[in-house]
Amino acid sequence: MSKLKKHFLGCVNSPIYQASSIIFEKVADLKNAKRWYGRNGTETNSELEEKICKLENAKGTILYASGAEAISNILFSVLESGDHVLFSDATYMPTQNFANKILKKFGVEVDYFDCKIGKEIEKHIKKNTKLIYFESPSSITFEIQEIDKIVKVAKKKKILTAIDNTYSAGILFKPLKHGVDISLQSLSKYASGHSDIIAGSVSFREKKLYKEIWQESYLIGGRLSPADCSLILRGLKTLEVRLKQHQESALEIAKFLERDKKIMKVIYPGLESFEQKEIFDKYFTHANGLITFAFEKKVTLKKIKKFVDELQKFKIGYSWGGTESLVMFYEELGKAYEKRHDFPLVRINVGIDDKEILINDLKKALSCI
Ligand SMILES: Cc1ncc(COP(=O)(O)O)c(C=O)c1O
Repeated sequence: MSKLKKHFLGCVNSPIYQASSIIFEKVADLKNAKRWYGRNGTETNSELEEKICKLENAKGTILYASGAEAISNILFSVLESGDHVLFSDATYMPTQNFANKILKKFGVEVDYFDCKIGKEIEKHIKKNTKLIYFESPSSITFEIQEIDKIVKVAKKKKILTAIDNTYSAGILFKPLKHGVDISLQSLSKYASGHSDIIAGSVSFREKKLYKEIWQESYLIGGRLSPADCSLILRGLKTLEVRLKQHQESALEIAKFLERDKKIMKVIYPGLESFEQKEIFDKYFTHANGLITFAFEKKVTLKKIKKFVDELQKFKIGYSWGGTESLVMFYEELGKAYEKRHDFPLVRINVGIDDKEILINDLKKALSCI
């Protein structure tokens, strides 16, 4: 066979198959069709599903129009009225809000556990516990759970486990290999990588669960458009290279911040000073490009805001994982965080800019306060 794939007509990248209607030659062809209607995706969706499956070592992947949609779909599909679900208390805040506002409305019991938990998870389990949901590391303060221990307890009790694996982009950690049942990602971050896509994925360790959830999510109806799939496919081509650059610069920048006298604490899993370094190294190959830090108590709130405003290369903006360097300011994040951290916190997304330029930007802003 030719080295050139026939349906690409010689183009390097696959075309975008955009469709609502998909047509068939004969009535009989409808029966076992893999794709039959645009809401069920096209070949472009298939290509991305396969790539995410490979990254996550999964038996099946479902794509969604946002990470939040991936999360709500999986919770709606797995849980029913009367079930109990456990969340790590540092889970992405909108996920907690969804659980508190919407799952509870549908009669699901919601509880939280300490985000640094391991086998002590057992004491939170009830007769009706259906799912343990965690996020490792959490996306602002990077707490990690002892995943192997949680999975061991869950398996013994026949409880499903799900992880928000956005931090690792499916590269730095492989949760399904550790026995986690469901691994989800916001593809809006590193996977797409250029701050212009909102998307999500859910990947499954077992085919049976994938098939069951696929049926339900098709009924719920949210899907990712082929055009967005195509941009993510392009992003994935450079994912590992970008991650290496993010990591290399972030480590240097974290060390620089740690040396500054105005900064009290730097939270970065790649630093030796990281509180859960040993557990981090057990599961993750590297830290990503996110760094969070707190200023010394003597630095006033006004000065911290000025520091953020003075930054030029780090633009003020939500989200992370893109090539752009970003900064976000958190005056508070709720009770669970207050127990563990001093506020305000500043989180930076180290982009792929030259690290010396980024350090100089931080130096300049620090010298203004
Ligand atoms: C850890 C984590 N999970 C999920 C989401 C939600 O993803 P999306 O913005 O694609 O809906 C985010 C977004 O910031 C996130 O940081």
